[in-house]
Formats: sequence, C-alpha cells, structure tokens
Amino acid sequence: MSKYSEIKKINVNHIKKMKGSEKIVSITAYDYTSARIVDDAGVEIMLVGDSLGMVVAGYDNTLPVTLEETIYHCKYVKNAAKRSFLVADMPFGSYQISVEDGLRNCFRVIKETGFEAVKLEGGIEIIPLVKKLVQNGINVMGHIGLMPQMVNTMGGYKIQGRSNSETLLNEALELENAGVFSIVLEGVIENVAKEITEKLKIPTIGIGSGRYCDGQILVFHDVFGLYDDMTPKFVKKYCDGRNIILNAAKLYIKETKNGIFPSVENVFLE
Ligand code: KIV
Repeated sequence: MSKYSEIKKINVNHIKKMKGSEKIVSITAYDYTSARIVDDAGVEIMLVGDSLGMVVAGYDNTLPVTLEETIYHCKYVKNAAKRSFLVADMPFGSYQISVEDGLRNCFRVIKETGFEAVKLEGGIEIIPLVKKLVQNGINVMGHIGLMPQMVNTMGGYKIQGRSNSETLLNEALELENAGVFSIVLEGVIENVAKEITEKLKIPTIGIGSGRYCDGQILVFHDVFGLYDDMTPKFVKKYCDGRNIILNAAKLYIKETKNGIFPSVENVFLE
C-alpha cells in the first residue's frame, strides 16, 4: 500500500521525500481526457512533454513544438488534474537563447497554465537559468542523458553513459546544487543511472534508464499501446489500446451500417 496514496494534492516536498521510501510514478498527458484517467489512477507526476510533437502532432521529432502549443496543452491537463504534481516541458528554443528569455518564457508557462514546475533538458549550460528560476519561485526538473532536443547534434537517439558516465554524474550534481527538485535520466545505461541515483539527494526519474532510479516516467501513448509501430525495449505496454479502439470503431461502423445501432435503448421514444 502506498504511503502517499491518501495525499489529496502532491507537492514538490512529497516528491523529494519519496526518494528512498517509495518509487515515484510519472506519465505524460496532453489533454483533459487522458489527464483525468491517469490522475484518477494515482500517478504522482504528470508531465506535458514536448513528446506531444511526436505522439499528438505527428512530427518526426520534438523540435517543432512551440511555447504556445505547450501552454495550450498544459491548460487542458490542468483542468483535469486534481492530485498529480504538474510539470511543463519547456520546448526547444524557449530557454536556450538567454537567461532573460528563458526566465520570461518559464514565468509565462507557470502564470498561464497553473503548472507547478518546468522541465529543462540540458547540463552545465542551463545552470545559470536553473538558479534564477529557483531563486524566483519556479520549481525545475532537470533532464540529462539522451536529450531528444539534441537529436540533430547527437545524430540520432543514442543510449548514454557508456563513454560519458563522469560527465553525466557531474551534470547531475551541478543541477542538484543549482536547485532542481529532481532529474529525468533518459536512455542512460543502468549501472550509471544507479550510481547517479545513489550520489544524489534528490530523486531521479528514469526513462529507459533501468531499475534503480527513484521513479519512472513513460509516454502515455506507449503505456496504453496506442501505436502499432515498433515499441522501444524500455517500454512496457499495459494494454493494447490501439486494437481495443480499432475493434470498437469497426463494430460501431458495422452496427450502424446494419441498422443494429441505434437500437430501442438508444432512442427517445417520447
Ligand atoms: O517529452 C517527454 O515526454 C519527456 C519524457 C518522456 C521524459 O521528456
């Protein structure tokens, strides 16, 4: 039984305290309906990820996502989420230009969406911005390892930690010193993610980074099997959502064509 399941509203202190006591569960959501489902299920952190560019908008990567699109999706998730801690993923180009520009855009997201934290991909280069945000009342979640916003310079999505484990550990420690409340470790080999998790006082949230992180995050569409494309090794599909919906859609078409729907219980007789 979860010690935190009775808590009515998860805040940043609950997330920090969960390290070493209970695994943190996080998932992405992008709209009212999906957010309501996972909030009711009891996840602790809901992230409006820039993965929305791929799973909602159908782009090849996350780079085209705009600040306006992020705000739009966050507002709808906020309408649904009553309990989860809400984190907005700052999109590519919204915080890299300068500390001032990053601050302005993060303030905008927090003010216009009612979200409680922002997530920033990056290592040492984002430390000045992280410090300013935290000093000014904005919770920041870090994101290191495989950083999808760097897809072009990385030349693809590459597993991290084989040759850069020291860099990753240093980045994690610097981010912790700068004040982030947790760090997403994406695509990091398990033993390196374990070492980082052990050396930090704040929780690590893994995606494709093995069993020893303090929590896990997955993309909504992956968890519920909404795509028939190849599923990455680190994903576990908890249901075959695409086929469930596809078969229901086919049945609806068939029954409507055959005059089975609507039947007498679906009509107003008087
Ligand atoms: O954009 C996203 O969904 C993410 C998570 C998967 C960590 O960054």
